[in-house]
Amino acid sequence: MMKDTNFDQKKAEAFSASMLDVLNKGAIALALSIGHRSGLFEAMAALPASTSQQIADAAKLNERYVREWLGTMVTARVVNYFPDTMIYQLPEEHARALTSSGDYNMASAMQFIPVLAGVEDKLLESFRNGGGVPYSEYPRFHEVMASESDQTTVAALEPFILPIVPGLKERLETGIDVLDVGCGKGRAMITLAKTYPNSLFTGYDFSEEGIEAAREEAKAARVTNLRFEVRDAANIGETEQYDLITSFDAIHDQADPAGMLRNIYKALRPNGVYLVQDITGSSHLENNLELPAGPWLYTISCWHCMTVSLAYGGAGLGAMWGEELAEKMMV
Ligand SMILES: C[S@@+](CC[C@H](N)C(=O)[O-])C[C@H]1O[C@@H](n2cnc3c(N)ncnc32)[C@H](O)[C@@H]1O
Repeated sequence: MMKDTNFDQKKAEAFSASMLDVLNKGAIALALSIGHRSGLFEAMAALPASTSQQIADAAKLNERYVREWLGTMVTARVVNYFPDTMIYQLPEEHARALTSSGDYNMASAMQFIPVLAGVEDKLLESFRNGGGVPYSEYPRFHEVMASESDQTTVAALEPFILPIVPGLKERLETGIDVLDVGCGKGRAMITLAKTYPNSLFTGYDFSEEGIEAAREEAKAARVTNLRFEVRDAANIGETEQYDLITSFDAIHDQADPAGMLRNIYKALRPNGVYLVQDITGSSHLENNLELPAGPWLYTISCWHCMTVSLAYGGAGLGAMWGEELAEKMMV
């Protein structure tokens, strides 16, 4: 092998160290996800500095597992440890980012890491042979997606999303027909149906699991001005039925995104509004270098968004289809 005379030893060592940092952070992400799902963060946030036994008791968990998990949390500097008394403390500032007490629960978002890691074998087959991995292979996808949507979509509806369209809230108050395409577990429509009882809401998704969960949540919430149906976005088959159509994070992983957009256009009444929320980014990789969540977004795209589309022989746009392509497809 020819020796590269420009080889920079310091650069190589710094890169290796950064890879160890990645390994640690991947492990921490898994531990944060368990901390969320097991209720450990909520329990610790409600406790003063406590022993592992007290924390395990409060969260109704096995102490030995909790103690090992605390080892990750302490070495990751998420939790403070006081060795003299062997007590652990979740600082309030950290609890804000890891529980429901703050604006965005990062521990909840960490659940995506194990969900994506769960399909690695199937994904590897797609790397080798093309094709994709269908939605049904991702355990807990709809549950985790709905938790994320609660934080990024449902919570943003009133303060940020609806005000984008002048007069929309007033129209919803008066009473209009609304459709959400790719509604998942339907939390956005359920929330709007509760807020705007004079409007009628519909949610379509091709996932039976998602629609069943949406119907159950609507029933539990006792909202009656909405319906959920299993329907392929590529075959909506309705003409001038809705005043407002929404899609939240639901175009780029479609098998036929162009078909979906055509159907939405057809289903809108004259003066109807299509309101769409999708991932921030450019269609051009070089413009995304400074995106704070760049690696994460390309990863979730490759592990899920692009891949579920390709599983159905679809366009495989992926999460990073970007604003430029989105604008081109919507004019
Ligand atoms: C990323 S999830 C977003 C779900 C929901 N809008 C939210 O924000 O939580 C994309 C959704 O699109 C649905 N979907 C994908 N392809 C579809 C199709 N051809 N027809 C209808 N729904 C589809 C999936 O089942 C999934 O629920």
